[in-house]
Amino acid sequence: MFSKLPASLLALVLLADFSCALRLNVEGRRIPVEKRGLQRRSSLSGSSPLDDTADLQYTTNITVGGASFDVMIDTGSSDLWVAGTVSSASDSGKAATISYASGGASGPVKIGAVEFAGYTVPKQAFIEVPPDDAHPAGQGLIGLGPSAGSVIFGEFDAEDEGNTVLDSIFIQNTATPNFITFALGRLNDPTDVFTGDFTVGEILSNFTDVSNQPKLPVTEVSISNQGNQHFQTLLDVNGFIGPDGNPISVTSEVSSTSNKKQATVVIDTGFSLPQVPASVAKAIYSQFNGAELINDKSIGQVWILPCTQEVNITLKFGGKSYPVHPLDAAIDPATFGLSPYQTSSGQNACLGLFQPVSFDTGKNPTYDMIFGMAFLRNVYTLINFGDFIADSKGKADPYIQFLSTTDPAEAHQDFVKVRLGGVDTTTSVFSHSGSSNNSSSGLSNTTKYIIGGCVLGAILLLVVGAFIFRSRRNSKAGAYRPLHLPAPAPMYGAGQPQMYQQTQMYNGANPPVYNPDRPYDPPQEHVPYHNPWEGRRQ
Ligand SMILES: *[C@@H]1O[C@H](CO)[C@@H](O)[C@H](O)[C@H]1NC(C)=O
Ligand SMILES: *[C@@H]1O[C@H](CO)[C@@H](O)[C@H](O)[C@H]1NC(C)=O
Ligand SMILES: *[C@@H]1O[C@H](CO)[C@@H](O)[C@H](O)[C@H]1NC(C)=O
Ligand SMILES: *[C@@H]1O[C@H](CO)[C@@H](O)[C@H](O)[C@H]1NC(C)=O
Repeated sequence: MFSKLPASLLALVLLADFSCALRLNVEGRRIPVEKRGLQRRSSLSGSSPLDDTADLQYTTNITVGGASFDVMIDTGSSDLWVAGTVSSASDSGKAATISYASGGASGPVKIGAVEFAGYTVPKQAFIEVPPDDAHPAGQGLIGLGPSAGSVIFGEFDAEDEGNTVLDSIFIQNTATPNFITFALGRLNDPTDVFTGDFTVGEILSNFTDVSNQPKLPVTEVSISNQGNQHFQTLLDVNGFIGPDGNPISVTSEVSSTSNKKQATVVIDTGFSLPQVPASVAKAIYSQFNGAELINDKSIGQVWILPCTQEVNITLKFGGKSYPVHPLDAAIDPATFGLSPYQTSSGQNACLGLFQPVSFDTGKNPTYDMIFGMAFLRNVYTLINFGDFIADSKGKADPYIQFLSTTDPAEAHQDFVKVRLGGVDTTTSVFSHSGSSNNSSSGLSNTTKYIIGGCVLGAILLLVVGAFIFRSRRNSKAGAYRPLHLPAPAPMYGAGQPQMYQQTQMYNGANPPVYNPDRPYDPPQEHVPYHNPWEGRRQ
């Protein structure tokens, strides 16, 4: 289970030589706060705006011991570290090392005052990492995951010491509801300019409908495997809808899941590229003309396809559909100032962001997929910790709620503007396949034939339906209903959380190296000494 994750993931290469440009790019897109759809609401005590670096990293400002740090938000890990010297912090006499597959963070555990998202924790444990190229002074990472995965927590014996930042906040402020929310921005979205927002115990006013969304239970890993507990939930049966509108078949590898058609999905703001089984990635991308599976030396295996191909996928949780913006299903390296990939026939290619799992998930995996920022940009996410809190006396079950923020019609217009120069050359396989023999939807011939057959079938059904129901007005002849149901009202381009594990950060001189590999299978010593749920959860 202690797989060493290969150094893989997108940013690495993508960003390797362009970090400055990226940073500038991001800053250059910042617009005055009052012009943003979603603003920093100073009245919200628990809100913290996010910076978006190339859609590959979302950071926020925190104060540690009076000094300001730019920290990446990461729901996939649980510890805070900052690089630099925090003079006003006291030494705990302990040291901690967070090991990521390549790289990590290591240093003395200090105790100091932390200000985050409008809250102040007077005595917060964190790792003070000596600055180096991989950990530039002034930067860091804040882990927002369950405390079971906290290395620092494991270093302390007393129940009330070494808590994660969020546990500290929740324990200290009993009136604060035990949840966090986040929205992640999309940089090249032509209609929604917003970099992201993160809150503790508060809901952004544009997204209050999130509380009406299905409460998706967090699935729990076995007690013996607690260090692997993440915020994870089950995808619906037939819940992964591919570009042709049909569900992609999924078989869960998670032994405790009773219905193997339900994939266990980890929600992780630290991963840029969602990780899916190779068969799923193939089902998404291989049907497009010009799509190829390549082995990028930094990212690993990844699908590329011509940038003009519009990839529509939809994910379903709790019976709700969550459309993924086509700009998130495949990303154009050119938007980062990089030369694009080329297909073997010489077409400019985009990178399929839903990547075949790029590391060994172990013999007895606790999840099937990792939904990182490319998915999370399409939802406003609420994670209720329930009793996933160190001193929790209760028995509340943790859950996740997603509010869709992507309107498929608007997303399609965005795609046409950004990737097709404003001229819609796509042909919806759903709305007009029957009327054109020159489809530019890019679906391969086989697929077209299959779809053609479906359309014929649908037409037949429609005819039959029309016959049967012809007296019924307003009947929309539902046999061929579009799969991408419009999302509910709030669709302002909120960002999403990322799932990227970053172990090395931008220092202005050396390129940032994002390490998506996180301790999904943490070494034994990372398992907390005391069981945070002992006597609380069975
Ligand atoms: C919600 O978003 C819209 C559009 O971006 C914006 O005009 C409006 O001010 C926002 N409302 C609130 C309450 O933030
Ligand atoms: C964080 O602080 C820096 C420096 O003060 C500022 O430039 C940046 O905009 C801040 N970021 C956010 C998200 O507030
Ligand atoms: C993708 O979805 C949008 C919105 O439903 C639709 O307009 C467009 O035609 C679809 N594109 C393809 C290639 O199916
Ligand atoms: C289909 O192709 C034929 C010949 O290629 C052409 O004459 C006809 O106009 C096309 N029909 C459509 C709907 O494009």
